Amino acid sequence: MNIAIGSDHAGFLYKENAKRYFAITQQYSCMDVGTDSEKSTDYPDYALRVAGALLSRKADLGILICGTGIGMSIAANRFRGIRAAACESAAAAQLARQHNDANILCIGERLIPWEKALEIIRIFLETPFDGGERHCRRLNKLDSFSI
Ligand code: RB5
Repeated sequence: MNIAIGSDHAGFLYKENAKRYFAITQQYSCMDVGTDSEKSTDYPDYALRVAGALLSRKADLGILICGTGIGMSIAANRFRGIRAAACESAAAAQLARQHNDANILCIGERLIPWEKALEIIRIFLETPFDGGERHCRRLNKLDSFSI
């Protein structure tokens, strides 16, 4: 499975940690879209790159990390077909995959310790979408609104 990962400066350390984890476990291949330092930068730029990687099918799932996970999720959810979930617990990450077929996980480096972030990342990547008529019906509605 290919993972696209991006962060702003506030999520840089956790992004590097996650890349190290992927390199050690070799379970997933990982595409890093930046940022490449703790120098101040703008989270929408990295949300755009990860969303683009998914929508062009270069990646199967995405991870976005900023200070809270909130800016990243707001930015990524601007793109039709993206379902980004800001999660602060493994239970939320599991349900985001099972019920919402979330395709991008957003993490807040300033809100949770790294050990918890890693648990959330692992659960998110390991949990499949439940499928089923009711979940699919609701997901189809997400992409059908046009106001
Ligand atoms: C950057 O200071 C911070 O605002 C950003 O990382 C994020 O938390 C926004 O939602």
